Amino acid sequence: MTKILAFTGSNSSKSINEKLLKYTIELLIDVDVDVDYSNLNTLELPIYSEDEEENKGIPIDIRILSEQIQKYDALVVSVNEHNGAMSAFFKNITDWLSRNNSKYLEGKNIFLMSASPGKGGAKSSLEYTKSNFEKFGGKIVESFSFPLFHENFDVENNKINSEDLELGLRDVVSNFLQNILED
Ligand SMILES: Cc1cc2nc3c(=O)[nH]c(=O)nc-3n(C[C@H](O)[C@H](O)[C@H](O)COP(=O)(O)O)c2cc1C
Repeated sequence: MTKILAFTGSNSSKSINEKLLKYTIELLIDVDVDVDYSNLNTLELPIYSEDEEENKGIPIDIRILSEQIQKYDALVVSVNEHNGAMSAFFKNITDWLSRNNSKYLEGKNIFLMSASPGKGGAKSSLEYTKSNFEKFGGKIVESFSFPLFHENFDVENNKINSEDLELGLRDVVSNFLQNILED
């Protein structure tokens, strides 16, 4: 069984990326793969600093997350956008992970998504995250940007309102699955 780990780059309790990710997990589960969702908001982490690392070492929650990632064949990640980049919350996690193991994404096939309430669909954060993940060995197999979230996603009925986005998402999910199941 192919194992997929899913998480978002947001620490908001009302995260639109979490809603999109959970919707996407349902599409993935339809096919025969195992998907686990991890809420990174439960990690106990200081802001990265060289002093913190020297004095206290790598936080245990980062070592556990890094080991957890190694147990999966692929990742599905949805990132939010804060001022054109990934959130400080998520950057901090990726900085710590990179200090623990500079190849923490080696061999991982990744489906990267992003969502925003605006027209841009958090594309700038998506692009930044792509290059960040690739630096640490990740392979971005598919990506998908979801714009105008509140218009295009019906939260009450857990449904995408735009036919183009619904078909587009199903298409990339299917390509991603084909790719990782072949690997
Ligand atoms: C500090 C801050 C900066 C933001 N910068 C951007 C931005 O650059 N581009 C954008 O599309 N949305 C921006 N937003 C709006 C976010 O896209 C919006 O809050 C979204 O809900 C975040 O995703 P999340 O709900 O999954 O956390 C920003 C929001 C905050 C609080």
